[in-house]
Amino acid sequence: MIPTNSVGTESVNTPSDLLRPSVNASAVVAAIASVVGNAPRPVPLHEPQFSGREWTYVKRCLDDGWVSSAGPFVERFEKALAARCQVQAAVATVNGTAALHMALHVVGVRPNDEVIVPTLTFIATANAVTYCQAVPHFVDSEVQSLGIDAAALERHLRQTVDIENGMAVNRQTGRIVRACVPVHVFGHPSNIDSLARVCGDLNIALIEDATEALGSQYRGRPCGGLARAGVLSFNGNKVVTTGGGGAVVTNDKGLAARAKHLSTTAKMPHVWVFQHDEIGWNYRLPNINAALGLAQLEQLDTFVAAKRRLATRYAAAFKNVRGVQYVAEPPDTKSNYWLNAILLDDDSGETRDNVLKANHAVGFLTRPAWEPMHTLPMFRDTPRADTSTAESIQRRLINLPSSPQLGMGV
Ligand SMILES: Cc1ncc(COP(=O)(O)O)c(C=O)c1O
Repeated sequence: MIPTNSVGTESVNTPSDLLRPSVNASAVVAAIASVVGNAPRPVPLHEPQFSGREWTYVKRCLDDGWVSSAGPFVERFEKALAARCQVQAAVATVNGTAALHMALHVVGVRPNDEVIVPTLTFIATANAVTYCQAVPHFVDSEVQSLGIDAAALERHLRQTVDIENGMAVNRQTGRIVRACVPVHVFGHPSNIDSLARVCGDLNIALIEDATEALGSQYRGRPCGGLARAGVLSFNGNKVVTTGGGGAVVTNDKGLAARAKHLSTTAKMPHVWVFQHDEIGWNYRLPNINAALGLAQLEQLDTFVAAKRRLATRYAAAFKNVRGVQYVAEPPDTKSNYWLNAILLDDDSGETRDNVLKANHAVGFLTRPAWEPMHTLPMFRDTPRADTSTAESIQRRLINLPSSPQLGMGV
């Protein structure tokens, strides 16, 4: 079938449509089937695996009565996280969104600041900016990493900001552009060195949204430990889960101490006195969740190895599927392949939906990427760059079932 270009109710073929390879939904289903084999249907997008010391550690919390925000597993989990990310400190929080909020706050994001965020991300990245009463400023993504396009960002900032008293100020809004939050989308590391150069030149603090990228590496360094602060998530759908949880990781011990204080209701240390020296948040991760997390973290290498085996099999399965590119890790990086993805050549959006429908009909719970942030009602009037590549990626991308179990024993 020749793809068509819809204009209003009419459909017309343009010369570029005729050149565009069509996508056969059944070929995509067949490629996925060849990889997932006899896995029970439906095949979810991402399921946790509990095959280590989870029961032992959680039972210890129940036996000891340490189930809430005090207890030995929180500290053990934080130490293990800091070691994995090769940073000085980790502060565990109730979820990744709270960790993003903490990280933005402690690097100095204040009301009426602007924070650069890719429009192609999960809502939490943008929401956390608004929790600081700051404004997200949405930018474009690149096809290679699916993260912020550093060259496009540099061009955009050159046209948008002036330097005033050493700070980047958006000349249209008059607001300080205080921070930038690159997201390692689906576990693929963003181009951090280029982003650090662009943002460093303008005194814009870099915070990694590494919520999807625990175990990924950029130029041999672990994601999460590449910027002023990094943020992790341990939601049930992530590579490592605590049920719900997150963390701020950083090389700046002062920043970590501040995040820990503020996420513990800003309570002054004392055995019985309830003294708080400012307004804080109740964001600390409970011990029982940290116990689960520690047992999971002990298996991170096994999970990532399984996910990378699965990725190799998907890449091979999609090699000869017409009109489809498998999204591989960017050069010089090692992705945890949190979620495998394909990009369709056809960017009508309709074809993507047909492929999703065909997959769901046979129990493959594939899904599209998030709606771009700037199209959501609460963010429609926020500042933004040209975001056409991110929009095209969104119309073309499909995530594939990616649980580590699918890559075990193959
Ligand atoms: C890109 C991104 N940012 C932030 C978050 C927020 O993490 P959490 O769900 O733990 O709050 C998530 C995950 O859910 C995410 O995928």
